[in-house]
Amino acid sequence: MNPTVHLAPMAGITDQVFRRLCFENGCDWATTEMVSAQGFLTAPPDRNAYRFLLARYADEGSLGVQIFGADPLYMAQAAERLTGLGLFDRIDINMGCPAQKVVGGQSGSALMKDPDLAARIVEQVKKSTVLPVTVKMRLGWDAEHVNAVPFARLMEQAGADGLTVHGRTRAQQYAGKADWQKIAQVKQAVRIPVIANGDIVDGPSALQALQITGCDGVAVGRGALGRPWVFAEIQAALAGRPYTPPPYSHIVDTAMRHAREMAAWKGERSALLEMRKHFTWYTFGRRGAAQVRIRINQADSFDEVEALLRSLAQNSPR
Ligand SMILES: Cc1cc2nc3c(=O)[nH]c(=O)nc-3n(C[C@H](O)[C@H](O)[C@H](O)COP(=O)(O)O)c2cc1C
Repeated sequence: MNPTVHLAPMAGITDQVFRRLCFENGCDWATTEMVSAQGFLTAPPDRNAYRFLLARYADEGSLGVQIFGADPLYMAQAAERLTGLGLFDRIDINMGCPAQKVVGGQSGSALMKDPDLAARIVEQVKKSTVLPVTVKMRLGWDAEHVNAVPFARLMEQAGADGLTVHGRTRAQQYAGKADWQKIAQVKQAVRIPVIANGDIVDGPSALQALQITGCDGVAVGRGALGRPWVFAEIQAALAGRPYTPPPYSHIVDTAMRHAREMAAWKGERSALLEMRKHFTWYTFGRRGAAQVRIRINQADSFDEVEALLRSLAQNSPR
């Protein structure tokens, strides 16, 4: 089987607009931003936050919806309702988020400290949906509690259909280097598909991660920020084809398409604010970008932003 290339879930980033850009570049699978099971179940039906979090374009590729929570019954009910929407191809359970507001509620990566509760969540969610159920996990809570191998086995026994393993502990957050050797140990310990995650940012790192971990695919998070074509690069590397990075004119075209699709969806005012971070990523490393970004953050329209972005065309990358 050919390895699959996934867009890792990222809160505030992997919405339908960004996902579609990634799919068009060869991404095989994506996951929504994380959704609170309890928040989703108790929110009024017209609450914008969930409408936006759960929106998907009809022409996207395979899409998982990611839920987080610590109560098996809420998680199961949320999975059932989300399945009923008919929008998603699988349910992904967040057992990796390190954020205090998530682990404080005993969910996200805190579940790796309570494997029995994590297993009950998977069992209940499995019972409530016909969709495949996957788990996104880390290596453990901290260096003294690296339990990814027994934890992964338990998730498999509980019914998980696949795992994505971020090769860091919760204590590491996003710092240090992802440990692909430890992901390899997880892959060897279970029969379900395992997707490697952490520090996969281009063709060579994807090939190396696959070689070291023996995994069934890779998931790219930060490496896709401002670079949805990273999927084209990885697919080329997997096929042994040469890859040419896009010229700056294409980067600006992509950034502006991203912006205008966001504006068509959420209105220009919200889109201008939400796109600021993306413009930073699209121009990352280009000489003069820092000054232009200050002016982009003060811009009142996307026409103004586009002129500012194009003004960097003569500046070479650092
Ligand atoms: C801004 C941001 C938001 C994230 N949000 C989520 C999330 O909602 N759910 C999740 O499972 N992981 C989330 N992650 C973790 C990523 O999915 C991924 O595991 C991590 O960034 C490591 O992969 P990378 O080195 O390719 O970025 C987030 C990461 C970042 C940087």
